[in-house]
Amino acid sequence: MNRPVHVIVGAGQAGANAAAELRRQGFSGRVLLVGDEPHAPYERPPLSKDVLLRPQDTRCAVHPEGFYEEQGIELKLGVSALALDPQARVLRLADGQDIAYDKLLLATGARARRLPLLDALGANVHTLRTLEDARRLGAELRPGRRIALVGAGVIGLELASSAVELGARVTVVEPTRAAMGRCAPPLLSGFLCDAHRRRGVNFLFGAGIEDARREDGDIVLELQDGARILADAVIYGIGVEPDIALAQGAGLDLDGGVVVDAACRTSDPHIYAAGDVAVRRGQARRETWENAQKQGIAAARAMLGLALDAEGAPWFWTDQCGYNVQCVGDMAAPRWIVRGDLAAPPFVLFGLDGEGALAGAITVNLGREMRSARELVDRRARLALDVLQDPGQALRALARAVGEPQPA
Ligand code: FAD
Ligand code: APR
Repeated sequence: MNRPVHVIVGAGQAGANAAAELRRQGFSGRVLLVGDEPHAPYERPPLSKDVLLRPQDTRCAVHPEGFYEEQGIELKLGVSALALDPQARVLRLADGQDIAYDKLLLATGARARRLPLLDALGANVHTLRTLEDARRLGAELRPGRRIALVGAGVIGLELASSAVELGARVTVVEPTRAAMGRCAPPLLSGFLCDAHRRRGVNFLFGAGIEDARREDGDIVLELQDGARILADAVIYGIGVEPDIALAQGAGLDLDGGVVVDAACRTSDPHIYAAGDVAVRRGQARRETWENAQKQGIAAARAMLGLALDAEGAPWFWTDQCGYNVQCVGDMAAPRWIVRGDLAAPPFVLFGLDGEGALAGAITVNLGREMRSARELVDRRARLALDVLQDPGQALRALARAVGEPQPA
């Protein structure tokens, strides 16, 4: 009898974890992990941080060397998957191979959204998604260099932090009125901007780019209000677009990503999707390390017909200006309160929903409290405001108390 073949397209965080989970669960068929990058799967979070700041000491591989061979996972790197035929259950690769599969996982991630106006400037213009991007732009971040960062999202702020640490002079240009508006409440956004400003970063909010050109060796960004920024290099982080080409060609349900259920099943019974490319119907697409990790594992288990672990509230982190910021739950919660002092980190922020239940939490340089904060958010705890705000009341004890069964 032929061994079953499970194929994973996209050798990133989600794909690499899915492959490992298939083996961990005892799957003995063929596992093929196909990736268009030349590298074995690596983690992206260090690209905006340690890869720039400590390139010699930074390793980003998802699994150690030799792992794929030991596990009998066939890695096909530097090869794009071109097309997917869901009726015939065949994946076509750019090297001409057709691979017949039993189950297929789309873990194709996302790509940096492009701004043609800036790309047209050619040299010294960068986005950041891959290891090669990080190495290229790392060469720009030198003492005294004038760096214009377009987009005050996660990438823009993390790069502002790294660039300043490397001695560059940074201006951030953002069309909206807030930093990290997609994933941070105003309290956190304001705190981070203040921290960057103290390190010399110049923020221009409400600033759309009207024109971009080169003049006498400078890059000139002309803003809609007439202001001009002169820079040696421009880095832009204006969001990502999920890599849905294969899914689209295969006629899968799409809604700002490949639509999946809790078990990462797509609209085709033999195709699954996980990570940045996937979206749960009616929810926002998650673009985080943890989501890629967990969904990769969930997809592998579902491919094998196994039960899934309970899902907790979503979590992510960012490192900026010496602050480790960890966020769990709903960052769009309508009301936020502070536990501690915004002017004197560490502190915790709690987000409450319309009924006063805990919907989200953020720790700043207090990662050790995140586990308890997370438990409280997962249980939608309702606690008195003075209790939440009092750093003297240990979160661990509160989480334990909330977790205990209520007396009948
Ligand atoms: P990806 O990592 O994008 O992997 C997808 C892979 O599939 C890529 O290698 C892609 O080239 C490949 N591929 C696509 N199409 C094809 C095809 N047709 N054929 C073959 N291969 C294909 N998250 C956090 O929570 N905290 C952080 O601090 C953080 N920092 C980040 C910093 C940076 C600079 C970046 C870029 C991301 C950061 N993230 C962070 C987000 C996190 O890294 C992503 O959410 C995660 O990498 C998503 O994993 P993925 O496997 O879904 O996609
Ligand atoms: N010009 C300038 N700025 C823009 C434009 C534009 N045309 N379009 C969007 N922006 C701004 C948004 O207002 C937002 O502040 O760019 C920022 C994008 O922020 P994010 O959505 O956080 O995206 P980015 O910072 O590029 O991060 C991309 O990296 O760290 C990961 O998980 C993160 O998936 C995310 C990815």
